[in-house]
Amino acid sequence: MSVIGILTAGGDCPGLNAVIRGVVTRATEVHDAEVVGILNGWEGLMRGETRPLERDDVRGILGRGGTILGTSRMDPYVHGDGYASCEPTIRQNGIDSLVVVGGDGTLHSALRLADEGNLPIVGVPKTIDNDINGTDVCFGFDTAVQVASDAIDRLVTTAESHNRVMVVEVMGRTKGWIATYAGIAGGADAILIPEVPYDLDDIVDILKARHRRGVRYSIVVVAEGVPPPPGYEPLKHRTDAFGFERLGGVSYQISDAIEDRTGFETRVTVLGHIQRGGSPTAFDRVLATRLGVAAADYAVEGRSKVMAALRGDEIVPIPLEEACAETRGVPFDRYEAARTFFG
Ligand code: F6P
Repeated sequence: MSVIGILTAGGDCPGLNAVIRGVVTRATEVHDAEVVGILNGWEGLMRGETRPLERDDVRGILGRGGTILGTSRMDPYVHGDGYASCEPTIRQNGIDSLVVVGGDGTLHSALRLADEGNLPIVGVPKTIDNDINGTDVCFGFDTAVQVASDAIDRLVTTAESHNRVMVVEVMGRTKGWIATYAGIAGGADAILIPEVPYDLDDIVDILKARHRRGVRYSIVVVAEGVPPPPGYEPLKHRTDAFGFERLGGVSYQISDAIEDRTGFETRVTVLGHIQRGGSPTAFDRVLATRLGVAAADYAVEGRSKVMAALRGDEIVPIPLEEACAETRGVPFDRYEAARTFFG
């Protein structure tokens, strides 16, 4: 009987439990395989922390946020000796194939591990940032966009009552997917993303023009990874225990710069982890379930160094190398479409 190990690593993401449920149910019910859950991402693989996963263990988790396996940013190549750190857990549990659910950094380590240990590994792309190459969309992104656009809707009404500018900061690290999509969905008056340099003068002109037309509010959506406005120093971000930089806060600088140059009262909302917590949307539940089912199939078939990806309406296996080749930014024409509605 084949044994599939599964781990979830990196920042959590709505839909992780749906993937776990998909893998476990498909593996046990259709392929008569066993599944071993590895706790807290790579950390569990390095420290031998595992639990068996059976069908009953994954009932009722489809719509639950987070991950029942736990996650961390520990990495076998940064905090251990690569495959040597993981081999005992793999051997002791008789793991034939490993399903790794993670973002860019996690998938890079998965690729190295597959090469070094000659271990069949199947990747599943996970991140609210939506920046993994080779898949049309990552699960979790839709939920994050929904949360952010709901927040914008709420901010519009209070902004309008007070005649204010609202600067809304969203996650995404070096990419502006959440900002662009939430901005479009929320009808933002300006969207600032790392992929497209911004000119503060343009933003100020947009806001002033709105005021001249008698509009009593403006919404500026800012991706957390944009540079500070002219005259402001880049923020010094703290790092977590794994050396991962904690972004966030540039919107306060942008808000100050806007207020100083327009004279309009301006407020900041940093949405933060609200975007990542809680129940996944129906779209993310379906996508994550399909990815989990496909990952179980690929693992049982003995495929290695592939990632389950969404292409059009199909889930297909793509080379993990392709997923790791680069991260995917917002195409300029997508941003241009959003810019049509600025002001
Ligand atoms: O990569 C996902 C993400 O949510 C980013 O958008 C964000 O910058 C980061 O993780 C936050 O990480 P943490 O949960 O460690 O603060």
